[in-house]
Amino acid sequence: MQMFNFFVIILGFISPCLCTRLNVGTKNNNYNVMDYGARGDGKTDDSHAFVNAWSSACKYGGTLTIPAEKSFMATNVKFSGPCKPKIHIQFDGKIVAPPKAVWKSGEYLIYIDNLDGLTIDGNGKGGADGDGSTWWQCQNCNRPGVQLFHFHSCKNLKVSNIMVTNSPSGHVSVNQCNGATFSHISINSPSNSPNTDGFDISFSSNILVEDSNIKSGDDCIAINGDSSFINATGITCGPGHGISVGSLGKVRPNDKVSDVHVRNCTFTGTSNGGRIKTKMGGSGYAKNIIFEEIILDNVKNPIIIDQKYKNGLPRNTDVVVSDVKFRGFTGTCSGDIAINLDCRKKLSVVCNNAYGTATNTIPSVTCLLK
Ligand SMILES: *[C@@H]1O[C@H](CO)[C@@H](O)[C@H](O)[C@H]1NC(C)=O
Ligand SMILES: *[C@@H]1O[C@H](CO)[C@@H](O)[C@H](O)[C@H]1NC(C)=O
Repeated sequence: MQMFNFFVIILGFISPCLCTRLNVGTKNNNYNVMDYGARGDGKTDDSHAFVNAWSSACKYGGTLTIPAEKSFMATNVKFSGPCKPKIHIQFDGKIVAPPKAVWKSGEYLIYIDNLDGLTIDGNGKGGADGDGSTWWQCQNCNRPGVQLFHFHSCKNLKVSNIMVTNSPSGHVSVNQCNGATFSHISINSPSNSPNTDGFDISFSSNILVEDSNIKSGDDCIAINGDSSFINATGITCGPGHGISVGSLGKVRPNDKVSDVHVRNCTFTGTSNGGRIKTKMGGSGYAKNIIFEEIILDNVKNPIIIDQKYKNGLPRNTDVVVSDVKFRGFTGTCSGDIAINLDCRKKLSVVCNNAYGTATNTIPSVTCLLK
């Protein structure tokens, strides 16, 4: 054991590479991925450089820099904590996806996890490109099914001025986060790219998406189960499927969303504006939802509540939708139905002079006399 430790120390001294890295890390707390061996030519796999640069930034604190005008081919880039507080990522360059054959299903392009107080800022041109066109046309390809940016278990997160384009699937997902602001995010995929949600928010609270431009082949923003206090303001959406609460009741039976405030948004050529979609057979609720100050330009369904959203379960329950306000919608509609409130009929029970007991019934029988 003694001997082994000794060798490690000697090695540390004679390795010039290790010394350079230590200097990089401690000089000004700026960890540039180029100093960790990244090529930035868009072809070489630079994943290792990101791992190493992040490990220094996380350990010592400071800024991880992804320099401008470079493309870094990588996959499954993990920025995970816990780390020193106040880590910053200067995201001026791009992370680009590997070729389809290399990208394993179930891997995120960039996975940001378990961090408190992380800030990410860019020059507006840096971010991620998923090279999705190679996936969109392919019927039988197992698309990664995941996002380019996946934020998990974050607190007090601030992300601004980045661009996220051409995802094989969703672009940005926010899961189990509490307290996050996304500003000046530009998302860009064509209208014929299937299932390319802009933002997917789930199991999160106190999230603000503001002053952003979202073009996609699916929802611009989807607010999913177990989320509350979610705001979107100053969003321009289109092409895309609008800003949606749900679909709820799909994956988990008990989906809950409350306190959603969508304000000052513009929808251009979208299939929906403000939408709430729930599946039959689900349970839970969508409540305290406000869509206001909305500008519509050629929108097919500007206001829509759909309680019969596709592939429900054959159960006689519903996600309860209540306290919803749509106000200040102006503009043009490209379809025949401007307002579509398609709610499910509630089954009811009538008891007239009926005596007895009822157990485990749907709907429940509360009117039976003893
Ligand atoms: C969301 O908007 C509400 C007002 O509707 C406000 O009270 C709340 O602080 C906002 N939350 C965020 C995270 O912006
Ligand atoms: C509405 O959003 C736009 C960005 O789309 C922004 O420039 C404008 O200041 C916002 N107005 C208000 C009243 O918040």
